[in-house]
Amino acid sequence: MPANPQTLAPTVPITSLRSPAIARELDALLQAPSLADAITSVSAGLIAWATPSLRPDAQSALELSVSTARMPTPDGEPLGAPGDEAGPFGRAARLAALAFGADHAVFGVNGSSGLNHLVARVLAMAPEPHVLVPVNTHHSLLDALTDTGVAFSRIGANYIPDFEALEPPTITDVEAAVAAAGSPVTAIVLSSPTYEGLHADVAGVAAVARRIGAALVVDAAWGSHVPFMEGGAPIAAGADLVVTSLHKTGGARQQNALLLHRDGTVDWHDVRRAGATVTTTSPSYPMLADIDATVRWLLTEAADAFAHSAALVRRFATALRDRHGDLELLGGQVGVDPLRVTIGALGRRRLTGYVVSDRLVSRGVVAEKRGSQAITFIAPLTLTREAVDATLEALEVALAAGAPDVAHLPAAASPFADADLKPALSAEVVRLLVGAGRVERVVPGDAIGRISAYRTELYPPGIPLLLPGFRVSAGAVGALAEAGETASIVSTGGDWDGRVAVLSHE
Ligand SMILES: Cc1ncc(COP(=O)(O)O)c(C=O)c1O
Repeated sequence: MPANPQTLAPTVPITSLRSPAIARELDALLQAPSLADAITSVSAGLIAWATPSLRPDAQSALELSVSTARMPTPDGEPLGAPGDEAGPFGRAARLAALAFGADHAVFGVNGSSGLNHLVARVLAMAPEPHVLVPVNTHHSLLDALTDTGVAFSRIGANYIPDFEALEPPTITDVEAAVAAAGSPVTAIVLSSPTYEGLHADVAGVAAVARRIGAALVVDAAWGSHVPFMEGGAPIAAGADLVVTSLHKTGGARQQNALLLHRDGTVDWHDVRRAGATVTTTSPSYPMLADIDATVRWLLTEAADAFAHSAALVRRFATALRDRHGDLELLGGQVGVDPLRVTIGALGRRRLTGYVVSDRLVSRGVVAEKRGSQAITFIAPLTLTREAVDATLEALEVALAAGAPDVAHLPAAASPFADADLKPALSAEVVRLLVGAGRVERVVPGDAIGRISAYRTELYPPGIPLLLPGFRVSAGAVGALAEAGETASIVSTGGDWDGRVAVLSHE
C-alpha cells in the first residue's frame, strides 16, 4: 500500500463551494438551451457561402462555420463564437466552470495535452518563471515547459515498486523542493489523481503555494469524474488552474478536455491571452457541443452511472483478493480512485504485466496499462457485471504462473530513485547543442551520468524517464532495459533503437 496514506485524503467537497447564489446560477444555466441546441437552431435553412466545406456524407446540423457568429438564435441573440464571455458559448463555459467549482473554463479539443501547453504559456508570463513539477508529471506539460523556456525542477516522490506507481508528492516532498529550488518558485504542479488512482493532498500543497506566492496547477487528466462522485475537487481545495480530460473518465468524446481557472493568483486575462495563441480559428462545433453535453450529463445523471461502475469495480477487486491473495491489489478500497484496479507484484508468479496483458488480449480483454510488475484496469461507464465475470475468468488463465525456468522477477527499485531533480543544462542550451548536431547515440549503460538530448519514456504512462538537459540516471536506464522489447518506448529523438541520445559537449 502507499507509504503515505495521509496524502490520500479526499479533497474539499465541491458542494461546499456552491453557495445558494451559485446553485441558482447553475440551475438557470442548465435550463437554458444547450450549446448543441443553440448551434442547430441557427443552421436550419442556412445558406452558407463559408467554410467548412464538408463532404456530402459528413453534413450535420452541428457542422457550422465560425462565420455563423452573427446568425441570431431563436432568443434573438447572436450565436457568437467560442471564447465569448456571453451568449451560448459564454454560458456553456460558465456552466462548465461552476460545475467544477471554478470561476472560468476553457474548452479544450486536443486533450489535456493541448491544455497543458496553454498552461505552460500562462506560467511563462511570470517575470522569472521557475516551476516545481513532481516526477510523475505527464510529458505534455514537461514538453510545454521546455518549449516555452520555463525553468523547472522536479519534486521527488515515493515509489511503490509492486505497482510500479509513483505516489503524489507529500507536503514534505514539496517543502524540500521549494527549499532546494535556488530561485523563487512561481508555480507548483501536482498530478492528481495519478494513473493508478492515488490523490494528492491538494489543500496542503495549496497552502504551501499561497505561503510562497506561487500558483498551484493540478493536472487532473485522470479525475474528471472525481468532483461528481467522491465529492472532491482540486479547484475547491485551492488549485489555481486545473486541467482535466473529460474524455478519459468523464464520458466525453475523445480529445475533449477542460481547463478550469480560479480567480486569485493567476490572472484570467493571462489565460485568455495564452489561449488565443494556441486556439484554432476553425473550431469543431460538434466537439464543443459534446463538452457542453458532457458537463450537463455530469451535473444531472453521472453520479448514478459512476456509482454503478464503482460497485462493479468493488466486485472485481473483492473477487481478485479472494482468488489471488498472493498478489498485491490497489483498488476497491478507501483512498484509491473507485474506478480502477491495479494488480501488482506479478513477479511473484514469474509473470509480467506484459505477459498477463497478452494473455488477456487473446481472450478479448484489454486493460488500460501494463508494465513489468503490474497491470491497471480502468472501469468504463459501459462496464457490465457479465464483463467483470468474464474478465475474472480470463484472469484465471492469464494469471497462471509463468514458465518455471523464468526467474522470479523482484519488483525493481524506483526508476527515479537516483534521478536528478534539477537540470544540468537549460532547455535553451540543449536546443543550441542539438541544433549544432552535438548529439551522440550510446548504449544505455554508457549514457549513465551523461546529459540526455531528448525526452524518453515508457508509454503508457507517458512519464518521462529521460528529459532533455537532465543527467541520465542508472534507475532510468534500468527501467528502459527491463521494459526491453515488450514495452512501447517513445522518444522525441525519433524511433527508439535501444540507444540513448546524449549531448556530446562534455
Ligand atoms: C497525467 C496526465 N496528464 C495529461 C495527459 C494527457 O491527456 P490527453 O490524452 O487528454 O491529452 C495524460 C494522458 O494519459 C496523463 O496521464
